[in-house]
Amino acid sequence: MKIICTKDYEDLSRKAAELIAEQILLKPDSVLGLATGGTPLGIYRCLTQLYRNDQIDFSSVTTLNLDEYVGMAPDNPGSYAYFMEQNLFSHVNISPERCHIPSGLAKSADAECRRYDQLISVLGGIDLQLLGLGNNGHIGFNEPSDTFTAATHCVALSESTRSANARFFSSLEEVPTQAITMGMNGIMNAKQILLCVSETSKSEILREVLFGPVTPSVPGSVLQYHPNLTVIADADACSCLPSEYRY
Ligand code: F6R
Repeated sequence: MKIICTKDYEDLSRKAAELIAEQILLKPDSVLGLATGGTPLGIYRCLTQLYRNDQIDFSSVTTLNLDEYVGMAPDNPGSYAYFMEQNLFSHVNISPERCHIPSGLAKSADAECRRYDQLISVLGGIDLQLLGLGNNGHIGFNEPSDTFTAATHCVALSESTRSANARFFSSLEEVPTQAITMGMNGIMNAKQILLCVSETSKSEILREVLFGPVTPSVPGSVLQYHPNLTVIADADACSCLPSEYRY
């Protein structure tokens, strides 16, 4: 595990975008696993800037997003499909047919989960998986539980996750109660994982994830077993880590 502690969120965003750009330069047809939420916004802005400066070409890149809310159409501003379109896809030269997100509208969520796992496998797995970290230690929407779930699955969102995500909706009631999320297999089989964490509110859970016991009650702790994990966290998020990792 490599931990990079940055001065601030801007620095975190720039470093993460540089690592993603490096991956694309080394392998132009990379399969990128992507995340949504507040943390990657700056990273997507930096990637857009690198594309505008002709430093990165998305034409052969394929993407697989981690999750989508059940019941949300791609044109619903609360959906993750909409988020990706607004914050990255519409700004770069990626082909829409290479951008994959679980469908929130699938008639059978179970069939959609199986389709998504097959897709990950047909695409040869993920070269680089970008992750954020939930306040409760979730990665993707793998919520704290008694067991790790390997496959893509449908999950009931915890109240803490719904409250944290209410900022993207006009009220808490509007936040969906269920989501489809990539499971631990899809994530852990990625060749490289980039975990990005920002803000003091994540500092204690980040310490638990990286240095606490590996347990499904802190889902992100499973990342300790990944052979190629890079953590990029800003000084605030690193404030509870052992002193050698603080800014
Ligand atoms: C989003 C996702 C989630 C978020 C996490 C942190 O696709 O999979 O695990 O990464 O909830 O969200 P933010 O960055 O908004 O704090």
